Amino acid sequence: MGILSSPETGYLGIDMGSSGVKIVELTKVGDQAKLLSYGFSENLTPDAEVKWRNDNDKIAELIVKTIAQAGMKATSVVASLPAYSVFSSIINLIDIDKEKIDQAVEWETKKVLPVPIEDVVLEWRLIESRLENNRELLKIFVIAAPRVLVTKYQDIFKKAKLKLINLESETFSLIRALMGRDKTTIMIAEFGATTTNVSIIERGIPFLNRSIEIGGDNLSKILAQKMSISLEEAEQLKFDLGISAIDSADSQISETIQESLSPLVNEIKYLIGLYQGRGDKKVEKLILTGGSALISNLANYLSRILNMNVIVGDSWSHISYPLELKPLLTEISPRLSVAAGLALDRFE
Ligand SMILES: Nc1ncnc2c1ncn2[C@@H]1O[C@H](COP(=O)(O)OP(=O)(O)O)[C@@H](O)[C@H]1O
Ligand SMILES: [Mg+2]
Repeated sequence: MGILSSPETGYLGIDMGSSGVKIVELTKVGDQAKLLSYGFSENLTPDAEVKWRNDNDKIAELIVKTIAQAGMKATSVVASLPAYSVFSSIINLIDIDKEKIDQAVEWETKKVLPVPIEDVVLEWRLIESRLENNRELLKIFVIAAPRVLVTKYQDIFKKAKLKLINLESETFSLIRALMGRDKTTIMIAEFGATTTNVSIIERGIPFLNRSIEIGGDNLSKILAQKMSISLEEAEQLKFDLGISAIDSADSQISETIQESLSPLVNEIKYLIGLYQGRGDKKVEKLILTGGSALISNLANYLSRILNMNVIVGDSWSHISYPLELKPLLTEISPRLSVAAGLALDRFE
């Protein structure tokens, strides 16, 4: 260790979801990512959610508070852009000089981008290159993030006195945390508070992506309405429901849960149909994550209704941690998948 310079102690993956801030702190030990700490901000109730998302000062304050409470020391941050805000596409280039790829990517992206190219920050990565009839075919994955959103994030982290070293789409952090180098075709459904992101991942690349405006809050709201209880009580009821809530003897609860889940089930079915309709393709399994993946028995229920293998993802599978923490970490794993994947960005 130098006298004047202190080495980077670790990295923070910061996920600013609609329900609050979630942070994972990792450090490098050899090639391994080791868990140093994790933390959540106060849980915002469904009513408070919309307001805080537009308030940079409030977000910065929540981040600083969460870091202090968890005793985190790292200051380098990888943060996520919400999947619904990021445009992504796969483009094909033929026989392009390496120096001209940037230009060509921009040109091709312009054709498919729904907004002016000046309004976005572009990033691309090569996913395949092969020779066909002596011509080099390049397959490139492009993501475009709204410039205003990138600026907003830079402002938030400046206010929080942290160093933002990378911004990426939530989908990539989920792939990193939950799949690693798995090359089979998998669907990931991140079931959050207000939105759910569903992606089909083929050879490690998001092939189809959709965000829908449904999340665990819908279930709380419907429960509150049907049972004539307050939103806070409904949220508590949702957390307390027993392991077989979906098959609950109380048919009202069971029906309510199923009803609130039906848009999600339909979306999953639609995407799988779209993907598998293109020839002999198959989605091998569904990985469920996001805080609402903790709804009791959800994976079993979806597995039955979709007739496929459904598991709750393990956000810690590429991270080492003390064994005695396993039960606790397993319990909170779905809520921290994006943050864990973000922090893992520096370990590739
Ligand atoms: N144990 C639990 N059982 C059921 N739902 C839960 C549980 N823990 C968290 N949730 C729900 O998860 C949602 C928050 O998930 P999260 O992935 O953090 O959301 P977001 O990314 O949208 O902020 C909330 O709707 C919350 O009620
Ligand atoms: Mg989220």
